[in-house]
Amino acid sequence: MGFIKEYGKKNSIIMIVDDNPAHVQLLSAILQEEGYEIYPVLNGKIALETGQLHPPDLILLDINMSEMNGFEVCKAFKSDLRLVEIPIIFISAAVETADKLKAFQEGGVDYITEPFQPLEVLARVKTHLSLANAKTELRANNEALETIMEKLNLAQSHLIQSEKMSTLGLLTAGIAHELNNPLNFISGSVQGLRKTVSPIEKLIKLCEFLLHSPNLEGKEKLQEWIEKNQPADLLETINELVKNACFGAERVSEIVQGLRIFSRLDEAEIKRIDLHENIDSALLLLRNRYKEIIKIIKNYGPFTTWFCQPGKLNQVFMNLFSNSIDAIFSKKELTQNENITITTRIEERDSSPWAIIEISDTGIGMSDNVIKHLFQPFFTTKDVGKGVGLGLAIAHGIILDHRGTIEVKSSLNKGSFFRILLPHREFKGEGE
Ligand SMILES: Nc1ncnc2c1ncn2[C@@H]1O[C@H](COP(=O)(O)OP(=O)(O)O)[C@@H](O)[C@H]1O
Ligand SMILES: [Mg+2]
Repeated sequence: MGFIKEYGKKNSIIMIVDDNPAHVQLLSAILQEEGYEIYPVLNGKIALETGQLHPPDLILLDINMSEMNGFEVCKAFKSDLRLVEIPIIFISAAVETADKLKAFQEGGVDYITEPFQPLEVLARVKTHLSLANAKTELRANNEALETIMEKLNLAQSHLIQSEKMSTLGLLTAGIAHELNNPLNFISGSVQGLRKTVSPIEKLIKLCEFLLHSPNLEGKEKLQEWIEKNQPADLLETINELVKNACFGAERVSEIVQGLRIFSRLDEAEIKRIDLHENIDSALLLLRNRYKEIIKIIKNYGPFTTWFCQPGKLNQVFMNLFSNSIDAIFSKKELTQNENITITTRIEERDSSPWAIIEISDTGIGMSDNVIKHLFQPFFTTKDVGKGVGLGLAIAHGIILDHRGTIEVKSSLNKGSFFRILLPHREFKGEGE
């Protein structure tokens, strides 16, 4: 009984398959004495049927049976996935060496010969039951270990990414801050310049007017100067340059604003923010990658603000847009119609509102196999150095943290479609 207690199994079940009732009776008596539960079976066919209905923990199997011999029964057990792990000990009147070999080849773990010695039978049965138990435990431990490894991988990927992104967040926040002062300076100067041009323009007009006055002293000199310097052309150039400088300053100002919004990365708390503003800031920062080639089509719905973690959502938008850009530039041939389309709206689901953000692209699309692994950390189809396979794993995690969902539709060579659904959340102390 010691062993049975040790392994926490009160009644290990042993099936005895033998067409000789005297053998079955004898073995049953030996084993029952020790507390095992016995299934006595007189032929192979019934053994299989019983095994399938109530799998035993161990089988004692006679080799020489009239209908189906022990080897055949063993083969049948080993070909059934649910029964393959049950240890089978062959029993026989006298086992020839060839039979012993065959017993092991067919998947048996041991054999017992007649006349049966109770102590030997018990010792072998105990050993193999304990081995089988240890195997099962090992397998369970392995599975648990694999699950832990998967979790560890995911946690590690989150860490890497959030570490990377928070550094990036700090960096962009720093740059935005530092750029702000000189930028204000430039913008102010350009505006000032624009204002100064207007009196100069008037002065030139005045000079031209004076040229027509009959008694102006030094008229020739003025004439000469005007012909040499062409002030009207100069003025046009100045105007053009000022216009360009204004445009440039506005662009830089937009980028700085984008960087500021984007660098909310370290803002982990939940806030009511303008989702469209966040989407725009991610797009702005990627502009040099999509250039003039990819058109950004925005079908924004009327809503603007939503409760979420702004910095985290920026990562999601950034990752999705970045993937779409990669997917479009991976095409063999680009057309005039390459685009990333962003559609937003509010939808009632389960009688509460959800923000829906859909991002579709005209990229290379994905095979079913890629879709299957899409959100796994470190899954990438990109070359080393181009992708690490964390973007979507992270995005998925962030959306789950928002209690939202992310859906994908895609087919190869037809582009991809991602839909993010964010539930409405009210938080105490937070308001508009
Ligand atoms: N919009 C998309 N179009 C086509 N394939 C995509 C798209 N988004 C993601 N994928 C596929 O999913 C993989 C994983 O994406 P991601 O997790 O962002 O990692 P990475 O971009 O570093 O490869 C990509 O390598 C790519 O094969
Ligand atoms: Mg990516």
